[in-house]
Amino acid sequence: MEKETYPLTHRRIRAQSHTRELSAEVHLSHRQFILPLFAEEGMTANRSINGLPGVEVYAESLLRAAIEEAMNKGINKFLLFPIPAAKREGNFDFSFAARLVQVVKQRFGDAIWLAVDLCLCSYTTHGHCGVLNTHEDRLLNHETVPVLVRYALELADAGADCIAPSDMMDGRIGAIRKALNKDGFDEVVIMSYAAKFSSQWYGPFRDACHSAPQAAALMHRKSYQISPFHPGDAIASSLRDEAEGADILMVKPAGLYTDVIASLRAASRKPIAAYHVSGEYAAIEALAAQGLLERAAAHIEVWAALRRSGAGIIISYAAIHAQHWIAVMEM
Ligand code: PBG
Ligand code: ZN
Repeated sequence: MEKETYPLTHRRIRAQSHTRELSAEVHLSHRQFILPLFAEEGMTANRSINGLPGVEVYAESLLRAAIEEAMNKGINKFLLFPIPAAKREGNFDFSFAARLVQVVKQRFGDAIWLAVDLCLCSYTTHGHCGVLNTHEDRLLNHETVPVLVRYALELADAGADCIAPSDMMDGRIGAIRKALNKDGFDEVVIMSYAAKFSSQWYGPFRDACHSAPQAAALMHRKSYQISPFHPGDAIASSLRDEAEGADILMVKPAGLYTDVIASLRAASRKPIAAYHVSGEYAAIEALAAQGLLERAAAHIEVWAALRRSGAGIIISYAAIHAQHWIAVMEM
């Protein structure tokens, strides 16, 4: 009996790395990566972060060396997270953050692009992203926005290229844009954490920044971060941020929300940044440490997903490897 054959329809194009490369529809470049940087006040040595191998919280004096190392690996865009030495109830002191920005921009100038995360959760005793009422069970929108505006102005004055508000208060983008423009900082970019979901995947970050919410009557951020069950809220509030003056719209977490990235891509022509957050990074690292997947290939696969869904900018704790991994990756 004659052996049955089945015509090759799709496997020819998959057969060789050459044809896999030729047929690629999305491309990655380290030039569109942003590296998060943590720096804590009062430390003399860097410290490692639980769950985030390869990521460190830098001492103030060692931050510039870390930036230099990243620049040597092709990364020149950063998202800074300043961690002050002491937490407070109010009267927040942003001088450490401003000093970091000033020192870094003095050293590197326009060779780098420095965005700074703008939020209060690393500053407050209760770990919430703004000012609470006296019962500590509600986050007060109107009381929080002016504090964020003051913080943004101090960062802009210190030389920040970009302000990245991650607090999720209503009206903060408009208020910050207006204040920046009024004080002559109209060239400072706003990258809004526009579609920021209430997520478990920020765990290692909160551990690193000592910023987990811990008010007895308010242990979560669901009253200000977006519900994973309400993607329409993410699109609507992103478009609201765009209308208020956001220049870059961020979706966060990234890998679990590619549907949101794709919807936002269709709804807006602003650049979209996808933030592959601490827990997402940690999950890959934990599997890699067990030999259950290949680290570089796993990160690249995530980055391809973010690109496919429509993100141009990728914020990743592995950004420092992007240039090398992309150069040598096998398709
Ligand atoms: C501060 C902030 C958080 C992250 C970025 N900015 C934590 C949070 O909202 O609890 C998370 C980043 C990450 O997990 O990598 N509001
Ligand atoms: Zn916060």
